[in-house]
Amino acid sequence: NLDKRVDSLLSLMTLEEKIGQMNQYNGFFDATGPVPKNGQAVQKYENLKKGLVGAMLNVKGVKEVKALQKIAVEETRLHIPLLFGFDVVHGYKTISPIPLAEAASWDLEAIEKSAQIAAEEASSTGINWTFAPMVDITRDARWGRVMEGAGEDPYLGSKIAIARVKGFQGDLTSNKNVIACTKHFAGYGFAESGRDYNTVTVSEEILQNIILPPFKATVEANVKTFMNSFNELNGIPATGNSFLQRDILKGDWKFDGFVVSDWGSINEMIAHGYAKDSKHASEIASNAGSDMDMESYAYVENLAKSVREGKVKESVINEAVKRILRVKFEMGLFENPYKYCDEQRERETIGKAQFHDDVLDIAKKSIVLLKNQNQLLPLAKEGKKIAVIGALANDKTSPLGSWRIGADDETAVSVLEGLKKYTGNQITYTKGADVAVGRTQFVWETKINTTDKSGFPEAIQNAKNADVVIMVLGEHGLQSGEGRSRTDITLPGVQQELLEEVYKVNPNIVLVLNNGRPLAIPWADKHIPAIVEAWHLGSQAGNAIAQVLYGDYNPSGKLPMTFPRSIGQLPIYYNYKNTGRPVMNEPESVFWSHYIDQPNTPLYPFGYGLSYTKFEYSNLKLSSNSFSKDGKIEVSVEVKNTGKTKGKEVVQLYIRDMVGSFTRPVKELKGFEMIELEPNQSKRVDFVIDEKMIEYYTANAKWEAEQGDFKVFVGTNSLDVLEKDFQFK
Ligand code: IFM
Repeated sequence: NLDKRVDSLLSLMTLEEKIGQMNQYNGFFDATGPVPKNGQAVQKYENLKKGLVGAMLNVKGVKEVKALQKIAVEETRLHIPLLFGFDVVHGYKTISPIPLAEAASWDLEAIEKSAQIAAEEASSTGINWTFAPMVDITRDARWGRVMEGAGEDPYLGSKIAIARVKGFQGDLTSNKNVIACTKHFAGYGFAESGRDYNTVTVSEEILQNIILPPFKATVEANVKTFMNSFNELNGIPATGNSFLQRDILKGDWKFDGFVVSDWGSINEMIAHGYAKDSKHASEIASNAGSDMDMESYAYVENLAKSVREGKVKESVINEAVKRILRVKFEMGLFENPYKYCDEQRERETIGKAQFHDDVLDIAKKSIVLLKNQNQLLPLAKEGKKIAVIGALANDKTSPLGSWRIGADDETAVSVLEGLKKYTGNQITYTKGADVAVGRTQFVWETKINTTDKSGFPEAIQNAKNADVVIMVLGEHGLQSGEGRSRTDITLPGVQQELLEEVYKVNPNIVLVLNNGRPLAIPWADKHIPAIVEAWHLGSQAGNAIAQVLYGDYNPSGKLPMTFPRSIGQLPIYYNYKNTGRPVMNEPESVFWSHYIDQPNTPLYPFGYGLSYTKFEYSNLKLSSNSFSKDGKIEVSVEVKNTGKTKGKEVVQLYIRDMVGSFTRPVKELKGFEMIELEPNQSKRVDFVIDEKMIEYYTANAKWEAEQGDFKVFVGTNSLDVLEKDFQFK
């Protein structure tokens, strides 16, 4: 029935109207991409009236959405409704933690919930399509967009990607949901040297085993749209990449939605040196399976001519348009194009109290305790003199993080506000030093060259008088994100010096990190007794941090990305290959795969995170030490809470395939379970190893399990594990 409706509409369309459906224009709010041309507004309106636009992006609020939808539905010949896209990445107005932080919760239910409330809030403003989730796996913390993904692991990344698609899309016919967009297809997270938009060169083995799994997982979760990426992949820009879009996505995976280009990425193929002009670029992109053109104006200006010249077959256009129309039909937009346009609902929904409770919940769960020497944390709530130091402590914008274009500045609960709310302690605040200068607006312009130390003496005096010092340091929320790669991932500006100066007068420091990427903080790890990774936690950041510091919430987060000792270790990740010369304990030789100035090990490994209580792992048991096709091994482990507080633990299972037709990583996450234990309580946690779990993309160019020896590891993070051997026969 759906196909029939699509075909019958298609049969009424002129070539120009078909190409119009493949055209997406930015609205009047240029927050998410460079504006290539001026004075386009008039042309945009005219094209809208002619039915030459299929979707808009960055149009804010019911009033504006309704006005544009009215043109499409009432003034065009075929009355086809528009899609309205927006980057609802971690919330619209009510902001959840940045996605990297949410990934640290390892709590799939909470992550789904967070996407669901983002969808509910955004959809009440007329938006019906979000450009999320970003599922790019990345191993290089220099890349600014690590904040927007789920980190370095394809298994965790896939689970989170599914949760986010479910949360956003829910029931497509409802008006509280938005369609999701899996991005950026593909390889964007592997940009050379972590520099945004840079060249990507990866083997097919890495592409298939590491990069593609979360993308595929979202197709299986019925995601409706994909976005391609800015980068070239092995010499071919992703936007013009038929292997990715036609062979893999629409072929092997049978994706039935449509692919939108990234902003201007069709025309960017000219700068890539892959297309000679915009017409050429539009031919390459459409033939390669990019169905919709975001802000290149390349399709609407050129494609009809290319079809007439026989450079693009009309069947290519038909296929793209069918995909786009199909999604619009599935969403029920033809029945009710204004289903997201209810101003009363908009007023009642934006910033609902319940949303704030929900984002506070996920914010607490996203915090990772990195160090807690002598149980400095949690802090007593009464009778203490606390010095709070650091510009980020008193900042109500930074916690919102990057990619929150629907939210207003200054709307987050600051750390200082949170700390004051939950305690009777005497709290004195001094800034010490700025994090960033040169911020001109809420996008694009954040520099990190602060050198001003004039606030140091006051901060030092504050610390001298205190029992405990809470230092809130790290990156401003806009120092990570798109276009914000860094060559130096230590604390920006003079914050490291500030930390060391304060430490000289009062070493009783709790360091609260705010950041959108792993930071290299070896000095802090060595000297500072308590370190809390608090990322950019969104609207409720200060309340979440205060609840953790005062022990109202026992931290349970685990790192979704490895923290390096230094920039020189990048890229660093837990699922590395052994090499032919893995480091042995033979210091007399230098001929191992190592550095002479630093160990290979990270500062904090993937999966790492402490609690106010302690968990002890024992009794790792396998039901058998081998299995064969269609068989399985049951794995169990005992976990005991040996501390004094109730706490949550993420029990992690890793596997190593000892010999493969492609060399295999030293460990791969294959399962995890979150448990909660009272003091002294123990629990048996069970996993099942089956053939599916040990499959990978082999040298036979297919996903299969290879017979041989394996190891299974279970533990509290990727390094600290119990292990056993087994075989697949
Ligand atoms: O969705 C984004 C994408 O991730 C980067 N370029 C702009 C798009 C639309 O805002």
